[in-house]
Amino acid sequence: MPLADLTAVAGPLRTDRTGLGAFNVVHLEHGGAFVAAAERAGRPVVLQVSQNAVKFHGALAPLGTAVLALARAASVDVVVHLDHADDVTLVREAIDLGFTSVMYDGSKLPADENLATTAEVVRLAHDRGVSVEAELGEIGGKNGVHDPSTRTDPAEAAQFVAETGVDLLAVAVGSSHAMTSRGAVLDTDLIAEIAAAVDVPLVLHGSSGVSDEGMRAAIEAGMTKINVSTHLNKIFTGEVREALAENPDLVDSRKWFRPGLEAISAEVERLLRWYAGG
Ligand code: G3H
Ligand code: ZN
Repeated sequence: MPLADLTAVAGPLRTDRTGLGAFNVVHLEHGGAFVAAAERAGRPVVLQVSQNAVKFHGALAPLGTAVLALARAASVDVVVHLDHADDVTLVREAIDLGFTSVMYDGSKLPADENLATTAEVVRLAHDRGVSVEAELGEIGGKNGVHDPSTRTDPAEAAQFVAETGVDLLAVAVGSSHAMTSRGAVLDTDLIAEIAAAVDVPLVLHGSSGVSDEGMRAAIEAGMTKINVSTHLNKIFTGEVREALAENPDLVDSRKWFRPGLEAISAEVERLLRWYAGG
């Protein structure tokens, strides 16, 4: 069961209108907390390592290899995914390491270049049995400036999927990355239109800004993979801040990491159940 293919996991969930939680592993301990949450919820999960996290760590292999080990030891399906890579060399490295899915993010490129490079990544990934997620319509907030205004056109999405062969498509429907409050309003009519126009699961980025009810509506409208990072970072850091304030003499990092990890594990379990309609 453990290390799973993204297309195989997401396909049936798309049909059932069920959400698949995808959570960013910034530090290895996050990965353990997310897998434990998925096991308690009895749900599949995506562990994602972003290109930004790779920059922070200085390399992909140490964190990536450890996350793969977590997946292989899990009792539920765990996809190990490279998130927001615009560097094809990094995509190749992730595939060589054993990642089962990669996101090639060419959303900043002119449309024809995004299409051509995405199609090339699809060819090289599919040769190795790896799934590919791409992004059409740049989802705001990657530069730290909240911007939910971009929209993906359903007809362009259908053409992009047909011409590139991508397995999942990230779309711009009102979310924006790195929001620390949950007031984003998603265009659920547009989600439904895109879901009807393309035959692959859709991905919501910047899901931290979306309320529980908003997410339920998005999933019912046809959103499948739900990417969450900032919301969990906020909970983790809040718990750590509190633990350190309450115990100014603490020096053992395990003692202040633990409350943060327990809190994000509980929240991921809750989100996974919620995305599945529970
Ligand atoms: O790719 C990762 C996600 O889009 C996370 O976005 O930090 O706004 O939840 P977020
Ligand atoms: Zn994202």
